[in-house]
Amino acid sequence: MSDSVSLGKGPSANKEPSAGREPSAGRELWSSRLTFILAATGSAVGLGNIWKFPYITGENGGGAFVLIYLFCIAGIGIPIMMAEIMLGRRGRQDPVTTMKHLAKESGHSRSWGLLGWLGVIAGFLILSYYSVIAGWAMAYIPRMASGVFTGLEAEAVNSVFASLVSSPESLLAWHSIFIFMTMMIVARGVRGGLEKAVTFLMPMLFVLLIILIFYAIDTGYFKQGLAYLFNPDFSKITTEGILSAMGHAFFTLSLGMGAIMVYGSYLPKNTSIAKASIAVAFMDTLVALLAGMVIFPIVFANALEPGAGPGLIFKTLPLAFGNMDYGTLFGTLFFVLLVFAAWTSSISLIEPAITWSMKTFKVSRIRASVISGFLVWLMGLLTVFSFNLASDFTFSSAISTKYGEFVILKDATAFDFLDYLTSNIMLPLGGLMIAIYAGWLMKKAYSREELNINRFWYPVWSFLVRYVAPLMVVVVFLNAMGVIAFVRSIMGI
Ligand code: PHE
Repeated sequence: MSDSVSLGKGPSANKEPSAGREPSAGRELWSSRLTFILAATGSAVGLGNIWKFPYITGENGGGAFVLIYLFCIAGIGIPIMMAEIMLGRRGRQDPVTTMKHLAKESGHSRSWGLLGWLGVIAGFLILSYYSVIAGWAMAYIPRMASGVFTGLEAEAVNSVFASLVSSPESLLAWHSIFIFMTMMIVARGVRGGLEKAVTFLMPMLFVLLIILIFYAIDTGYFKQGLAYLFNPDFSKITTEGILSAMGHAFFTLSLGMGAIMVYGSYLPKNTSIAKASIAVAFMDTLVALLAGMVIFPIVFANALEPGAGPGLIFKTLPLAFGNMDYGTLFGTLFFVLLVFAAWTSSISLIEPAITWSMKTFKVSRIRASVISGFLVWLMGLLTVFSFNLASDFTFSSAISTKYGEFVILKDATAFDFLDYLTSNIMLPLGGLMIAIYAGWLMKKAYSREELNINRFWYPVWSFLVRYVAPLMVVVVFLNAMGVIAFVRSIMGI
C-alpha cells in the first residue's frame, strides 16, 4: 500500500508538515491506513449493529425508520466522522486537550474543551450499560455450547432469556467479567492487540452473518423480512422514532463523543480521511442491515413480536441456531464473535476518559484504567438492577401544552434512561458541536490541509458539515421537543 507507513514514533517517522500541530513526542501512530480503518470499524461495529439496530427498528415499525437512519448515516454521519477524525489528527491529544488547542489555534475560546468533556462523560455512561448487554452475549456462549437451545420452541427460548435477566447475580457476574476484560486491554495500550483482533475476527463475524442469511432464506419468510426492513410506511414513524434513528446513526458510527477523535489522533498525516470514513460507514451499515435481514424473517416465521425490545436477538437467534445443522457450533461461535465485536467497541468507549485522566491527573495508563474501570462497573449496577430488582422503578416525563402532550420518556427504567440520554441527546449534541467547530470556526486553510480532498469534494463536505448536518440535528431536536408541532399548530399548517 502506497500510504502505509511503518509504525513510527511521532514527527520524525511521519514527516509531519510544519503547519500542522506536531504530535506529542513519541506518540505512536497506526501502522497503516488499513489498521486505522480496522480499528475504527472495530469501534463502530458492535452491539449497536447486531443487538440495537434490529430491536429499535422493530420498535419503530421497520422501513421508514431504516430509511431515516440511512439518510442520517449519509447526510450527518459521514461528514461528521470526517470532521471528528480531522480534529483528532490535528490535535493529537485527548479530546479535551485537543479541542482546547484547536480552539486556540484558530483564535476561539478554550471552553471548546467542554466538548471533549461531554464526550468523556457520554462514553463512560454508554459503557456502563453496554457492558451489561455484552454480558448477556457472554452468558449465551455456555448456553449455546451445551446445546440448551437445541430443538426449542419460541416460548422456551423466551424463558431462557427471561430467567437470565431476572437474575441479578448472573448479570452482575458477567458485567464484572466484561469490564475486567475491557480494562485489561485498555491498561496495556489500545493498539497492538486491537489491530490483530479486528483483522481476524471482523471478517469471521461477517461470514457467520452470511451463513445466518441462508438460514433466514430457508425459513420461507425472507421476503416478509425484507419488506419489513425496506418498504417505508411513514404512518408508523413518530417524532420519537425520528430522534432515535438519528441518535442511532451517531451511536453506531461511534460519533460525537471523542472515540473516533482519539483514534484519529493516531492517524498518520498522509492518509485520506474521506476514504477511511466512507469505508467505515459502509461496513458498519452493511453489518447492521445483514443483522436485520437475519432477524426479521425469523421473527415472522415464528410469529414473534418485532417490537420485543432489547431482548429481540436473544429470543430470535437461538431459535435459528437451535433448529439448524451445526447450530451448536455456529451459535457458540456467533456469540463469541459478538462479544469480541462488543469488546473492540467498549475499548473505544473508555479510551477518551483514559487519555484525558492520564493527562489531567498525571497518572499511569494502568492506574487510570483501574480507577475508571471501577467507576464504570459501579455505574453499571444501575443497569444490572434495572432488569430485575429495580425494574419497577421507572419514570416518565412529558411536556403537556395546550396543543397536545409531548412524551419524552415513558415508563423508563434506569437502562432506558441512560440509553436515551446518551444516544438521543449527548451524542447528537457532541456531533452538532463538532460540525459547528469544523465547519464554521476552524480556519478553512486548516481543514483543507487536513482533509486534502480535491476541489470538487471539499465544498461538498463543507456544505454538509456547515448546513446539512447541523440543521438536521437541530430540526430533529426541536421536533422531538414538540416545538415544530407547536409552531405548526399556531400557524395552522
Ligand atoms: N458504535 C458502537 C456500536 O455500535 C458503540 C459505540 C458508541 C462505541 C460510541 C464507541 C462510541 O456498538
